[in-house]
Amino acid sequence: MSGPVDVDALVAEARVAIAAADTTEDFRHVAAVVSGKKSALVEASRALGSMDPDARKELGRQLHEARATVDGLLEARRTAIRYAELSAEMAASRLDLTEYVPGEAAGPVARGHLHLVSQTRDALEDVFVGMGFEVAEGPEIESDWYNFGALNIPPAHPARGMWDTFYLHLGEPESTLLRTHTSPVQIHLMERAVLDGTLPIHSVMPGRCYRRDTPDARHLAVFHQIEGLVVDRGITFADLAGTIETFTAAYFGPDIHSRLRPAYFPFTEPSAEFEVTCTICKGEGCRTCSQTGWIELGGCGMVDPAVFASVGIDADEWTGFAFGFGIDRCAQMRHQIADMRALIENDIRFLRQF
Ligand code: PHE
Repeated sequence: MSGPVDVDALVAEARVAIAAADTTEDFRHVAAVVSGKKSALVEASRALGSMDPDARKELGRQLHEARATVDGLLEARRTAIRYAELSAEMAASRLDLTEYVPGEAAGPVARGHLHLVSQTRDALEDVFVGMGFEVAEGPEIESDWYNFGALNIPPAHPARGMWDTFYLHLGEPESTLLRTHTSPVQIHLMERAVLDGTLPIHSVMPGRCYRRDTPDARHLAVFHQIEGLVVDRGITFADLAGTIETFTAAYFGPDIHSRLRPAYFPFTEPSAEFEVTCTICKGEGCRTCSQTGWIELGGCGMVDPAVFASVGIDADEWTGFAFGFGIDRCAQMRHQIADMRALIENDIRFLRQF
């Protein structure tokens, strides 16, 4: 070896080289340079053998300290690099579900809304609740008894021809069917009120109904009705007419009125069809209302004593009225929808308008 070894300088050089390594690969290289077999420190140690004992002792001590220092620096650096690399790897593979916004890349998430028929049902319920009615519901699958029998429509009655029925099971002891109107809910409510002793009844009953009809511009095979039933003491036809007119003005607006025309339903007596001013021409007469100025919305009448008898209500003490009309038809009238089939076609461009 030529000249004395500057151990402090070797350590200082090693310190700088170690601090500069920031990947595992760099580190391996630096470690070989500063403490490998061919490093300056190891070579200096090797040269000790040819030195005189005093000088050897002093330099040996210095080199031993220097190697301990360099090993310490290497170990600390190795740990730091490993930690940094692990953190980077974890950050890269992290999946933070709380940060994930579905469809963010495609812009703001589009929100849907209730279908027009549901909006119409809600609006109708609101009007009737405002008039003091309660809202009730009944099953869509019914027996003959609820859909027909209890409503004074016996098996051979020609009135059964008024409703083209989807039967689920035909036969004894009783057929089951998809209800063709919401009137069977009247029976459920009256039966319950008799059992629980909770007469009078002031209720509306919205729901889905089914008929074996071929859909056209004004009919759907699956449609919605809202039924009304009032059973109380001293109820008259004037209460019915007033209720219908109040509802009509509240729902369609003050320009639209109602009128009742004699009709026939087996479960009401007397019965009427109720019509409202045509919303298209405001009563002037147009194609939609066949130049009459009126559009038929539903049926109504005073509860037939035969119906009271079938649920065990005393017709001498109680009287009542009932009505039923199409929710889809109301939506069609209020929004001037030319063809009702648009309600079930699920064309988002149509539905979005409401
Ligand atoms: N249920 C009858 C129909 O669907 C309508 C109606 C209800 C008539 C209540 C009178 C009383 O046609």
